[in-house]
Amino acid sequence: MTWLIIGGAGYIGAHVARAMTAAGESVVALDDLSSGVAERLPEGVPLVRGTVADRALLDRTLAEHSVDGVVHLAARKEVAESVADPLLYYRENVHGLTVLLEAVVAAGVGRFLLSSSAAVYGTPPDDAPVTEATPCRPVNPYGETKLAGEWLVRATGAAHGLATSCLRYFNVAGTALPELADRGRSNVVPIFLERLARGEAPVINGDGYPTPDGTCVRDYVHVADVAAAHLAAARYLTTAPAGSDLTVNIGTGTGVSVRELAVLAAGAMGRSDIEPVVGPPRAGDPARVVAAVDRAREVLGFTAAHDMREMIASAREGRLATVSAQVTTGNESAGQRG
Ligand SMILES: NC(=O)c1ccc[n+]([C@@H]2O[C@H](COP(=O)([O-])OP(=O)(O)OC[C@H]3O[C@@H](n4cnc5c(N)ncnc54)[C@H](O)[C@@H]3O)[C@@H](O)[C@H]2O)c1
Repeated sequence: MTWLIIGGAGYIGAHVARAMTAAGESVVALDDLSSGVAERLPEGVPLVRGTVADRALLDRTLAEHSVDGVVHLAARKEVAESVADPLLYYRENVHGLTVLLEAVVAAGVGRFLLSSSAAVYGTPPDDAPVTEATPCRPVNPYGETKLAGEWLVRATGAAHGLATSCLRYFNVAGTALPELADRGRSNVVPIFLERLARGEAPVINGDGYPTPDGTCVRDYVHVADVAAAHLAAARYLTTAPAGSDLTVNIGTGTGVSVRELAVLAAGAMGRSDIEPVVGPPRAGDPARVVAAVDRAREVLGFTAAHDMREMIASAREGRLATVSAQVTTGNESAGQRG
């Protein structure tokens, strides 16, 4: 089996490439390096540089590498940017996927795995763990494009006999190796570590929520676990019936509050003297979003193995590696989207 990983030089994509090659799968990556870093790819994984919207490049790549399955991770993923520039998000995340699916169908590739997100749920109706049957009501264009992507994948799979899977990751954090760390600045763990490194207090967005400590509760999942889930899903797809779809939450099933996260981050940075400060709540932030993980366990045999402490400790190591790489290259913005 040869898998084409689109967005394979990204934070999560590189972890997936690493997990799949380590398990003996043959892997090719396609990435435009808009936020990816070529050096993240494991040795021996060919990188095709280009965009997912380039149909001729996709046709060539699928044929030359005799691709059997596609894992699609390439997307824009900043919520605020999606609100400011929804057309960019629909073009990149939905139009790009349409071009890719057309190429996949034309080439007769039989398996397709999509990166989806807990953002498809928006604000869950209550505090119960979010199951895959919870109604999807995204609250920003990013979440809308992820949900539209799921619809596209399922409809195409049903019409053209592809076995498909949409993995809805919750809040991804940590790193398996320092050099694979998240270099973006939009996720809460890197943001807190960055502030603490500057001696500044992490800022919590509101503490008046109906949760035990008043701050929002989320489900953080280690990126190495997310990669393991992809491997499990890829293996599942190799024997799944043509035209079938498996949509599945990828989380830990455990909630961690923003205050707990801030305290753990301060401890990991040796700055337990710094107390988080509380800022105003953000509009539209649900109090609690935690995954129901039964389907992942029952169908994929997947259970997350890492806890919050490991995510923060590894993210801290990854931050140090990123800072030292930037000092070496003298390029603060290398591989980042801002
Ligand atoms: N990081 C999270 O917490 C999280 C949570 C849920 C879902 N996701 C989803 O996971 C996927 C990967 O996210 P990530 O955190 O690794 O982001 P990332 O920005 O590190 O990775 C995206 C990769 O795709 C590449 N890319 C972007 N547009 C492309 C295009 N048009 N053609 C080819 N390559 C392109 C980038 O260069 C990058 O290597 C995204 O689909 C995202 O929506 C991420």
